[in-house]
Amino acid sequence: MRILVIGSGGREHALVHALSGHEVHVAPGNPGMQAERHEVLVDDRSAVVTLARDIDADLVVIGPEQPLVAGVADALREAGIPVFGPSQEAARLEGSKVFAKEVMATAGVRTARSKRVTDPDQVKVELKNFGPNFVVKDDGLAGGKGVVVTDDVREAVAHAKAVIADGNPVLLETFLSGPEVSLFCLVDGETVVPLLPAQDNKRAYDNDEGPNTGGMGAYAPLPWLPEDGVQRIVTEVVEPVAREMVRRGTPYSGLLYAGLAWGADGPSVVEFNARFGDPETQAVLALLDTPLADVLYATATGTLADLPPLKWKDGYAATVVLAAEGYPESPRKGDPITTSDPTLLDDPSRVLHAGVAASATSTDDAAARYVSAGGRVLNVVGTGATLADATADAYRTIEQIELPGSFYRKDIARKAVDGEISV
Ligand code: GLY
Repeated sequence: MRILVIGSGGREHALVHALSGHEVHVAPGNPGMQAERHEVLVDDRSAVVTLARDIDADLVVIGPEQPLVAGVADALREAGIPVFGPSQEAARLEGSKVFAKEVMATAGVRTARSKRVTDPDQVKVELKNFGPNFVVKDDGLAGGKGVVVTDDVREAVAHAKAVIADGNPVLLETFLSGPEVSLFCLVDGETVVPLLPAQDNKRAYDNDEGPNTGGMGAYAPLPWLPEDGVQRIVTEVVEPVAREMVRRGTPYSGLLYAGLAWGADGPSVVEFNARFGDPETQAVLALLDTPLADVLYATATGTLADLPPLKWKDGYAATVVLAAEGYPESPRKGDPITTSDPTLLDDPSRVLHAGVAASATSTDDAAARYVSAGGRVLNVVGTGATLADATADAYRTIEQIELPGSFYRKDIARKAVDGEISV
C-alpha cells in the first residue's frame, strides 16, 4: 500500500514506523522519519487532496487534530481517497468541549459537571460553584494550553478571562479525582475496537510537579486497571458516544481517544480527542502485533467489524520525552543532538523524533545530523516483560543522548511500578 501520513511529531513518527513495509510518505514530517517527505500545510484541504492524488495514495492517515477540525478528512473522502480520521463534524468531539458535553449528556456518559461561561464578569461568581480544585477549559483547540487545573482561584479567573478575551467560551468543571486512563478506540460507525489502555504523565517535572505539558512520558498497558476496565470504558463511554454520533447523522470514523479519570464509580470522561494521543501512541504501538496498515485501512474503508481481533505483544512499553530547555513556556531551539551510539538516532524502535530539524552544518557524522526544533524533541521507547523492565530500557537509551539544556522526567510510570495506584 502507498500511505500518506499527515503530521510531523513523535506520534507521527510512531505511525510511520508501525507502517514500515509499505511505501510511506509523510507531510511535512521531520528529518528523523524514514519516509519520503512532502511540504504541505496540514490544514489546507485542497493541498492535502492534491498531494494524495499526486502520489496516488491508497490511504491517508491524519495525525494531529488541526486538519481534522479543518475538514481535511471530509475533502479526502469527497475525492474518493480512503482516509483514517473523522469528519469535521465528528471531530468537534475534540474541537468543542461544549459540543462533547452535549453529546455525553444525550448519550448518558459520566463526566464532570460543567458550566459554559462567555461573560468575563460571571467567571468569579460561577467559580464559586466549583473547586478548589478549579478546572477551566478553553472551549476550542488550544494546542495543549487550553486547560488549567489549579487550587488558586486567581489563576483560574485569569485563565478564564484570557480565553474569553481571545474570543472563546470557557467551560468551568468539577475536578475528577482518580488515576487517569487514555483509551484509544478505533471507531467505525457503531463498531468500537479498543487498543491497549495507557497513561501519560503530563506535568513537566518529577512527582507530578511543574506546569502541565502535552505529556512527558507514557506507558501501556496499565497493571492497576481492573480486569474489566477496558470493557467498561467501551460499554459505558465509547459505544454510547459512537451510537449518538450515528443517531445525529454524523458517524465517527477514525480514532476516538477517551481521556478518563477512574473514580469511585468507575470511568468518567475528562476529554475526548479525535486522534491518537501523543506520547501514549509511542508506547501503545510498540506492543501492537497486528499490522497497523490493516487496522487503519479497515477503519477507513468501513470494514472494521470484519477485522480479526487485534494481536498484542506480551509485556509493557514506556516512552520518555526528552524536552528542550525552557519547555513548555519557551523551548530553546537549534541545539545539537548527539549520542555515543551512532545508530541510535536512526533506530525508530528505540528513538522517535518529534521536535527535530536537520542540522544546518550537517556532516556524515551521524552524531551531528539533528538539532532540536521544538519543545518535546525526542521520544525514547523501552519495552520489557515487566513495566519496570520497560522503563529501565527507556532510561538506558535516553542516558546515551546529549542535548544541551534538555531535561526528562526520571519517574515515568514509577507510581504504577511501585504499586501506588489503586482504584
Ligand atoms: N497526551 C495527551 C494528548 O495527546 O492530548
